[in-house]
Parts: sequence; C-alpha cells; structure tokens
Amino acid sequence: MMNVVLVGCGAMSRHWLDAARQIDGLAIVGLVDLDAERAKARAHEYDLTGIVIGTSLDAVLDQTRPDAVFDVVVPAARRDVAFAAFAHNCHLLTEKPLADSPENARAIIEAARRAGRIHAVVQNRRYVANVRRIRRFLDSGAIGAATSIHADFFVAPHFGGFREEMAHVLLLDMAIHTFDAARYMAAGEPASVYCQEWEPANSWYRQGSSASAVIDFGGGKVFTYAGSWCADGFRTSWEASWRIVAERGSLLWDGHDALRAEIVVPGRDGIFDKTQPIEVPPLDPADRVGGHLGIIQDFMRAVETGTEPETHGADNIKSLAMVFGAIESAETGRRVAIAREGL
Ligand SMILES: NC(=O)c1ccc[n+]([C@@H]2O[C@H](COP(=O)([O-])OP(=O)(O)OC[C@H]3O[C@@H](n4cnc5c(N)ncnc54)[C@H](O)[C@@H]3O)[C@@H](O)[C@H]2O)c1
Repeated sequence: MMNVVLVGCGAMSRHWLDAARQIDGLAIVGLVDLDAERAKARAHEYDLTGIVIGTSLDAVLDQTRPDAVFDVVVPAARRDVAFAAFAHNCHLLTEKPLADSPENARAIIEAARRAGRIHAVVQNRRYVANVRRIRRFLDSGAIGAATSIHADFFVAPHFGGFREEMAHVLLLDMAIHTFDAARYMAAGEPASVYCQEWEPANSWYRQGSSASAVIDFGGGKVFTYAGSWCADGFRTSWEASWRIVAERGSLLWDGHDALRAEIVVPGRDGIFDKTQPIEVPPLDPADRVGGHLGIIQDFMRAVETGTEPETHGADNIKSLAMVFGAIESAETGRRVAIAREGL
C-alpha cells in the first residue's frame, strides 16, 4: 500500500482524486490546503473519512508519515512543497510546471537527488493515445525523418484565479504541454529558441497571453509554435493542432481524433510529386496512456521497482528549458541557446 498526502485542493485536485480512487494499493491519508474549508470539502466529496486534514504540509506529513506527496498547488508554491516532501523522505509527483523559475527547477531536482527520492511531473499530454501513435509512426521511418513540426494552440478560457495575474501566462502555464509533446513526438533535442510574446487589445490576462516561438531541435529539425489564450473563435484542441512535415510526407493531427498522413509516391501531377494516404498504425499495447491515471500508475511502479518514471524531473527539465528559453528570448528580443541537459 502506498500512503499519499495530496497538497493543493483546487480545481485540478479532482483529476488526481478521480484517478487515485481507481488505483488499488494507493491510499490518500491526508489532504492539505491553505484554505482548510477547501480541503474539507474535497475529503467529503471523495468520501475520505478519517484522514488528516490541515493547512500546513509539514504538520500533516509529521502526523501521517506517508510514502509520497502529490503536489497540486500553484506553481509559486512548488519549491516549498518539494522541499517539505523531501525533508520528510517522501517521493514526489508534482503538477506541471516542474517549477516557476529556472533556479527553483534546479533546486528541486538537486533536492530530489540528495534525498534519493523519485521526483516526477504530471506532463499528461504525453499520455494521450494519438501522441503515442505519432511518436511510433515517426520512429518507424514510414515518411522519413521529421524536419518541421508545427503546432497551433488557440483557446480562450476565462479561468479567473492565478493565471490572469501571472507573468508569461501562456508560455509558463500552458505551452509547457505543447513543447513537451513536440519534443516527445519528434524525439527532439532542443538547442535554441526565438520567441515573441504580445498582449492583444482584448486580452483579459496581465501578461503573455499570446506567443509565437521557433525552437531548433538540431539536425535540421525545427519546431514552430503559435498560441493564444484569448483568441475567440475556431478554438483548437487543448492538445493543439499539428502539422508534422517529414522527408517523404506529412502528418496532420487536429488534436482530437483526426490523425492522417500522406506519403510521396512515384510520379508527378504537373509540378507536384504525387502523394497518397498512408495509415498511422493504431495504439500499440505497450504504449502507456491514460492522462493523470497513467502517470500516477507509472509513478507508483517506479517507486516500487526503484526505476525512473518517464516524466522524471531530470528529463522534464528539458521541456521546461524550452519554456524558460522562450521567456528569456521574449524579454531580450534575442535567440536563446538551450543546454543539452536542460537548465
Ligand atoms: N496537467 C494539467 O493538465 C493541468 C491543468 C490545469 C492545471 N494544472 C496545474 O495544476 C496546478 C494547480 O492548478 P489549479 O487549477 O488546481 O489551481 P487552483 O488555484 O484551483 O488550486 C490551487 C490550490 O493550491 C492551494 N495552495 C496554494 N499554495 C499552497 C500551499 N503552499 N500549501 C497548500 N495549499 C496551497 C490553493 O489554496 C488552491 O486551493 C498548477 O500548477 C497548474 O498549472 C495542470
């Protein structure tokens, strides 16, 4: 049995608790939130009777001595939560983004290493069936190596709360998912980024609701991202909408179910090489999916077997480096190099 304390009982905590109650061998033994009423309400909603509820993570960890902490707090509180978890010898599964600054990301990863604990991030867009299928299809070489990866993200939510007040909101709070998916699907090694952010006249965010970035994955592979969090009309999927161009064809994914590819075949139609549809194979049974549920299960398996889960911090920091590189580029107006090991 893995005993877990969950900290941060806001909107996202429902996804975690929905997943947790489907997993045998996982027990939520404590809930923590600065707002005690919110934690109590969640405990009631999920029938978590007899667990410890508090406003101080340290105090609840002292009392419950769990194996792991599930961190669902706002990014600004992530470092304190991580340090408290490791100080109590807990493994840590944390919401994205891994940290709210490069310094905090490095500090959290170093603290996990020193504590010898598993530290992983819920970068759940990887655990989407079509993302796994695209990676497998590109790896198969069916349309040659990917050369150009293009993602469009246009969604206009009125969340309220911390997002409307934070800086670089699209890059830091959302683009991390799209950047990580691009890095994963195209097996990219981010080498540099150029980015511009702007605030459309109708924006309801403080800063950074719209951004465009060009990220060089090295070896002639380039990823372009265009996104906005205040673009009403023609909403894209939360997964973004994708065009991946490869040496012998292209792939289109609308971020929902429509996934199709075309391959070049011999012959020409006027000035154009002929193309024809090519099937993208279905999900392989070995592909791990399931969003939060899949990630929590992988995290538990890693704790049980002493292995690193796929989205462990030392790997996830490479996607975060794309985000912080983009932020630095937007602030300075210059192309920013990204280190091989991330930040
Ligand atoms: N993986 C995804 O798809 C996804 C989607 C949305 C949000 N998120 C992430 O989930 C996290 C939480 O987002 P949310 O929408 O639930 O936010 P929220 O504001 O609804 O909830 C955050 C909760 O954390 C509590 N909190 C803040 N600091 C705390 C601290 N030091 N100790 C205890 N509690 C504290 C707040 O009181 C609040 O109840 C964010 O990092 C966000 O980026 C992930």
